[in-house]
Amino acid sequence: MKIPFFRLDSIGERLKEDLIRIVESGRLTRGEFTESFEEEFKNFLGVAWVKTVNSGTTALYAALRALEVQGQYVVIPALSFMATVDAVLLAGGIPLVVDVDETYTMDVNQLEDALKRFKVKVILPVHLFGNMADMSAINWLAQRYGAYVLEDAAQAHGAHLDGVKAGAWGDISAFSFYATKNVSMGEGGAVAVKNPSLVEKVKKLLDFGDTPAFNFRLSEFQSAVGLNSLRRLEENNRRRREIARRYNESFKDIFQLQRERGYCVYHVYSLRHPQRDSLREELEKKGVSTKVYYPYLLHELRNTPHLPTPRAEKFKGELFALPIYPSLTDEEVDYVISTLLEVVQKL
Ligand SMILES: Cc1ncc(COP(=O)(O)O)c(C=O)c1O
Repeated sequence: MKIPFFRLDSIGERLKEDLIRIVESGRLTRGEFTESFEEEFKNFLGVAWVKTVNSGTTALYAALRALEVQGQYVVIPALSFMATVDAVLLAGGIPLVVDVDETYTMDVNQLEDALKRFKVKVILPVHLFGNMADMSAINWLAQRYGAYVLEDAAQAHGAHLDGVKAGAWGDISAFSFYATKNVSMGEGGAVAVKNPSLVEKVKKLLDFGDTPAFNFRLSEFQSAVGLNSLRRLEENNRRRREIARRYNESFKDIFQLQRERGYCVYHVYSLRHPQRDSLREELEKKGVSTKVYYPYLLHELRNTPHLPTPRAEKFKGELFALPIYPSLTDEEVDYVISTLLEVVQKL
């Protein structure tokens, strides 16, 4: 059996009809699909305002510009995709990197150390792999030390904690709709704003007008693909969680699992093992593709200020991710489990 690391859902007849309707209408951008996507995503999250943009990176960048981070410290976790640190640098901020905990999200004890020692403008937690960062602690610390909270929710569409969705905890948040994300458009992103005082600032940045601006817009095609994906999100997240539950049960005695916080939507399913590289090689030979998220730490990658990061350093050498996506069949899940158990026993 050959199991790819990612496989797209079938797109369905309704989306095909929508895409044809867009071509025939002649309205290729700024139309009803983008409007509907923004309205439905805003209601789904429970925030004040949502604006789509062309990527998760530009969503982070726009949010950081709205928060006016030039020359200011922005606390980020060591373990994330490089866009998290790059957006801070592009917006002129100073990334200050802290360690992660066993949930692979920002370590709030270290965050507090950082807040005591530096004048921090923005705390930027990442809900890594679909798992919620410790948002009640982060919001409490933000209030105490007078910082804004920007959530990187690129991997956490539909995740929630204490009844509040990822992206609806902070002042503002950024989503990605990259091809493999839980809500996908191929490329795309959104800024979601909860703090009403930031709405006008973000609007100004995203429209041509008073200040020089980029064009960050999406086309109607992307919005139609995204809307189709958004409407399947909760069902797809349930399937991801079902697969993760089977993996967890099978691997809990042999591997280090990610500790869940809240309702994790398993954008990525990662395990830890000291012999990760040999395991991956053997799995590949038997047709199971895996990936490493991430082979770098953000402060090492961009040479930024940081606090000690012993956990992230250890995790970087041990983490590897298994296939997890809604179209993965029960037979394929069985094959991944039996193959990994067989390979690990032979080590
Ligand atoms: C945690 C995180 N932040 C930011 C991004 C950037 O999103 P994009 O690739 O849409 O620019 C991604 C995804 O790729 C991500 O996983």
